[in-house]
Amino acid sequence: MKKLILILSLVTGPAFAAGGGNVHLDDVDIDLSDKASLQRGARIFVNYCLSCHSAEFMRYNRMAEDLEIPEEVVEENLMFTTDRIGGLMKTTMPPEDAKKWFGKAPPDLSLIARSRGPEWLYTYMRSFYLDESSPSGWNNTLFEKVAMPHVLYSLQGARNAVFKKDENGVEVFDHYEMVKPGTMLEDEYDEAVRDLTNFLVYVGEPAKMVRYKLGIYVLIFLVILLIPAYLLKKEYFKDVH
Ligand code: HEC
Repeated sequence: MKKLILILSLVTGPAFAAGGGNVHLDDVDIDLSDKASLQRGARIFVNYCLSCHSAEFMRYNRMAEDLEIPEEVVEENLMFTTDRIGGLMKTTMPPEDAKKWFGKAPPDLSLIARSRGPEWLYTYMRSFYLDESSPSGWNNTLFEKVAMPHVLYSLQGARNAVFKKDENGVEVFDHYEMVKPGTMLEDEYDEAVRDLTNFLVYVGEPAKMVRYKLGIYVLIFLVILLIPAYLLKKEYFKDVH
């Protein structure tokens, strides 16, 4: 019996962990064929995330090729942490310092879209609010007491979160109130975070891009193959009546 419970908890555990209780995750439209979106996402990532987080499984030249960005453009506009186009997307912040400053080292984001899922990332980046009791001055309705500050607040703006009591007297999040607007309107910000999430999904599995391309070639091949196959069939069945 004990064994059975153990097995059951192992099987169902990840499902509960992934669901994260009853938090609401927003849907996001992930499209790896949308190169413009991936390029915008890459720009946000190198400008706003790479100062603390690495994406160590990704090389700049691989990204340049996959996202169809000329290498010179990458070298001039998207490379801040190395001068080698074949270099890895590594942060320059030493992990010991990061730990000292934030209490926690920012994790590598190479596989974050696979471990957390795109909906989680999309919701997370849109769930920051002001909180004076937190060391960074920020908190997050999806990730309570997060050690990461809201690095995109200049775009989204700074918001307060308003909580209310539910029927059991437990404080639950109700809505946000804008305190200081950012440079983007709400739907512009959602679109920017969608691009960023799209990029992180690509980073999590760059081979998907190759598979997409391969899939198209396979389909073209099958269509071409259809012609001789059809003619052959006609030939074979000519005398069968
Ligand atoms: C100033 C440093 C800093 C910057 C810049 C930063 N982060 Fe973070 N981030 C952190 C820290 C510290 C944590 C760890 C938070 C914790 O565990 O409480 C974190 C955690 C995260 C997590 C949660 C990881 C997990 O599953 O536990 C995600 C996702 C994330 N960051 C994404 C981003 C993205 C995307 C950007 C760029 C828009 C970014 N971060 C920019 C410091 C930073």
